[in-house]
Amino acid sequence: MSIVFKPDETFRGDYSYRNSDEAILRFPFPFPDDQYMYSVNMEPHQPKGASAVYEHGFDVDEHYIAECRDKAITLERDPGRCQVLPHMQMAEWDTLELLMDSLSADYPEHFSLSKTGTDFGAHWTWINRPLGIEQSFVFGDAATLPCGSFEYITRQAQGDFAICDQREDNLFLDAGMVTSQADWSLDFNVGMSFMQWHGPVPLAHQAGVFERALKYLLMIRQGQPVRRLNWTMTVNPRLDTAPETFPEWGPDRASLTPENIGRKLHLRVELQTLWRLPRSNALLFPIRCYLASLDELVRVPKWGKRLSRVLATLPPPLAEYKGLSRFLPTAVAYLAAFDDGSAISKGT
Ligand code: HEM
Repeated sequence: MSIVFKPDETFRGDYSYRNSDEAILRFPFPFPDDQYMYSVNMEPHQPKGASAVYEHGFDVDEHYIAECRDKAITLERDPGRCQVLPHMQMAEWDTLELLMDSLSADYPEHFSLSKTGTDFGAHWTWINRPLGIEQSFVFGDAATLPCGSFEYITRQAQGDFAICDQREDNLFLDAGMVTSQADWSLDFNVGMSFMQWHGPVPLAHQAGVFERALKYLLMIRQGQPVRRLNWTMTVNPRLDTAPETFPEWGPDRASLTPENIGRKLHLRVELQTLWRLPRSNALLFPIRCYLASLDELVRVPKWGKRLSRVLATLPPPLAEYKGLSRFLPTAVAYLAAFDDGSAISKGT
């Protein structure tokens, strides 16, 4: 089905972002059980699963144009949201190739790619119809693009992208385009290793989650991407919730009341995928953010019930880390009205 874009919606200022009925129904609701705890929740990234967002390698939806515009605003204000360490140039081109190949194959009505070859030096032409872009360039020659190849292609994709260099049986966060993150800083984390950048996460280290996850990630093979969901909550449909802009969005947490929480509080779900890149052997980590207000979510009765139970039983250290403590009781009280106490089948 062709995507009907909503080019004028906003993720700041008047926050006019909303989900259509179709977007609510395809929302990647992340809770298969009534309780939530961190786990190594990874599975093959294949076109099957509970949500239509898994249909393609890189999901494009009705918010595409508006999200790319919001990303451009954030980059204009803070160019440091895109950083690439010098040894990551090969991985940059790997990322451009993967995204252009995938988007043009999966959404031919919106994106086209023609090439004279796949080696460096080949001539490529890229057409992005929703954003009105046509660009001819030499694959491998950044001087033929308006900016670096990683920045060029990730400006035209929804969500954030990290590239991890793999060496010494470890992963290092050596490149990123990060404009819609859940309160972590690329500028602070760039160059860190897997355990270092996960340092602030509570409970998961002790449970061995990161040790097992790292072993799994080091073995990921080209052509066999994997995925996992992560979640938090955000006041207003705001993409840019970085520590750098905390003064702009942090105080909103104190603005929630029983009357406005259904409209203002959003479940923020990240579809995280992991892709082995062919030339560099680096690992690409796209983080695609989906936002839905409580009022939108409770339109699916089993989601309202489940979210009510998950939030009511959330371990306090997780609530604190995710920044929910201040408004959690108001959210739980609001959602209780949507829980009749009956059992819900396992799964989403
Ligand atoms: C949180 C990056 C893979 C589990 C985070 C944070 C970052 C991050 C930057 C925020 C840390 C902070 O508070 O400053 C990445 C990158 C990955 C990756 C670049 C790619 C290799 C994984 C995997 C798992 C995982 C495979 C699987 C278990 C978590 C968890 C959190 C977290 C549980 C806490 C999230 C929350 O409660 O909202 N990650 N991560 N990460 N990561 Fe990862």
